[in-house]
Amino acid sequence: MSAGQTLIGVIGSGVMGSGIAQVMAIAGHPVVACDRDPDAVAAGPGLVGEGRFGLWGAVARGKMTESEAEAALARIDFTTDRDAAADAEVIIEAVPERLDLKIELFRDLDRECPEHTILASNSSGYPVQALAAATDRADRVIGWHWASPPPVMRLAEIVRAPQTSDKTTDAICRLAAAAGKNPVVVKDSAMHWGYVTNRVYGAMIREANAVVAEGIASRAEVDQLMVDSFRWPSGPYGMVSGATTGWEGDKG
Ligand SMILES: NC(=O)c1ccc[n+]([C@@H]2O[C@H](COP(=O)([O-])OP(=O)(O)OC[C@H]3O[C@@H](n4cnc5c(N)ncnc54)[C@H](O)[C@@H]3O)[C@@H](O)[C@H]2O)c1
Repeated sequence: MSAGQTLIGVIGSGVMGSGIAQVMAIAGHPVVACDRDPDAVAAGPGLVGEGRFGLWGAVARGKMTESEAEAALARIDFTTDRDAAADAEVIIEAVPERLDLKIELFRDLDRECPEHTILASNSSGYPVQALAAATDRADRVIGWHWASPPPVMRLAEIVRAPQTSDKTTDAICRLAAAAGKNPVVVKDSAMHWGYVTNRVYGAMIREANAVVAEGIASRAEVDQLMVDSFRWPSGPYGMVSGATTGWEGDKG
């Protein structure tokens, strides 16, 4: 590995994991993208290459050269074998949003990885301290919440649990910034799901739904009012649709 490269392990190569692997490979890091489902492993190179936000689209739009795209793709090892990721300096977990699944994985990774490995979670909102408690390395456990699609969105919500060290936080912020993201460090909470982004987003959706349920305005009217009043790029319902099916004009 050359200077500046960090071996990254991504566990779970679905929608988020494959995009995270793509971003880190473009940033120059070797990536082991591990999924327990052989179909997800087989689909990985296609998603990263030809996917809607993939490398070939970036080449077509002049964002990178063909050889840069080829080199990025070659830096990702898609595999079902988690041992291949065990030596990673940083592991980013992107398995489904189930706390039991994530706790079990963090417990296993803690046993399998060398002492220095940082374990980061792309959970959408579970307390990072619950994952840290499953390990004997709480100082090297952190939340690194990405937004979809990872190649496009700049979000790097870095969630610091009570025992996360400065060294771990700095290392992840540096990696995120060097990959073109905009790290913001927030405090973990044992009480709430959602960190900052999904708590605020959830509150907005709850209130919009209440307004519609009371018959005060339609969804389209709520969206229009919020755009016109606060210069939001889209209203609450437009945001739900953008976050789930992609934003109009996203290119990656
Ligand atoms: N999809 C989004 O918009 C979005 C945005 C931000 C954060 N997230 C978070 O990212 C995480 C992943 O979400 P996703 O949408 O990519 O899910 P996904 O279902 O697309 O992918 C999850 C992958 O994990 C694999 N997997 C499950 N258990 C595993 C294990 N033990 N080891 C290895 N692989 C395993 C599955 O086979 C699957 O391919 C979730 O925590 C989610 O809340 C999702």
